[in-house]
Amino acid sequence: MEEKRLFSKKNAAEPPTALDLNRIPKHIAIIMDGNGRWAQKRHLPRVAGHKQGMQTVKTVTIAASRLGVKVLTLYAFSTENWKRPSSEVNYLMQLPIRFFSTFVPDLVKNNVRVMVMGDISRLPEKTQQAVNDAIADTAHCDGMVLNFALNYGGRDEITRAVKKIADQVKKGELDPSQVDESVINRQLMTAPLGELADPDLLIRTSGEERISNFLLWQLAYSELEFVPEHWPDFDEESLQRAIIEFQGRHRRFGGLKNE
Ligand code: FPP
Repeated sequence: MEEKRLFSKKNAAEPPTALDLNRIPKHIAIIMDGNGRWAQKRHLPRVAGHKQGMQTVKTVTIAASRLGVKVLTLYAFSTENWKRPSSEVNYLMQLPIRFFSTFVPDLVKNNVRVMVMGDISRLPEKTQQAVNDAIADTAHCDGMVLNFALNYGGRDEITRAVKKIADQVKKGELDPSQVDESVINRQLMTAPLGELADPDLLIRTSGEERISNFLLWQLAYSELEFVPEHWPDFDEESLQRAIIEFQGRHRRFGGLKNE
């Protein structure tokens, strides 16, 4: 069994723990929280935290791809984030443009494919263009999927799915008795991910312990980890530590431990 030794920098007294490269979670979802607090601690404007957070997205994407993660879903902008001051919203809307204009060659080099979930039609034209270009430029990559949740909300996603299913019933294409989990899965924004739609591991940074309207259906059996670092401080070692913690959990999916 291939193992990688990981020594914690933060507490040298801790016994070293091992990362099992044969049991890497296939789908990791991350709520990237704490950009504003990271900036405030440094007496910087909140947007400086988002800028640094974008660098962390690059670091973590490459790290996850090298570890063999199949899908990395990042909560970049929620349906509720429109309530923030317009200057911050505008800055956040520019970030995908800046990110993809500098990072697509690295994504291609690492065989990473960009996907997006959420209603991007509400984003500024140039942001939509940058996102769509990145999707097209990486469409041939068949390594890790980097899945951005942009103008995404779990309740919005489920509401849209219910409407589509109701419409199919109304048109006589579907009988209500046929509505099961697979019918619902097919109408969710994660449908293109197929059997990888549900995250194995959800990480939220910055110590908050909430789901915040993220992947409400898909997180049903995910392992949840709330880590103290603010997102701009999260790095490759933080990711490895989270995976080691995941590997120590016993996933039961409602069954018994030894099943
Ligand atoms: C939450 O921190 C973070 C966000 C709402 C934005 C996340 C966006 C990025 C990390 C950059 C995304 C990059 C790309 C390429 C799209 P917060 O502002 O709520 O932090 P706080 O809770 O400390 O105020």
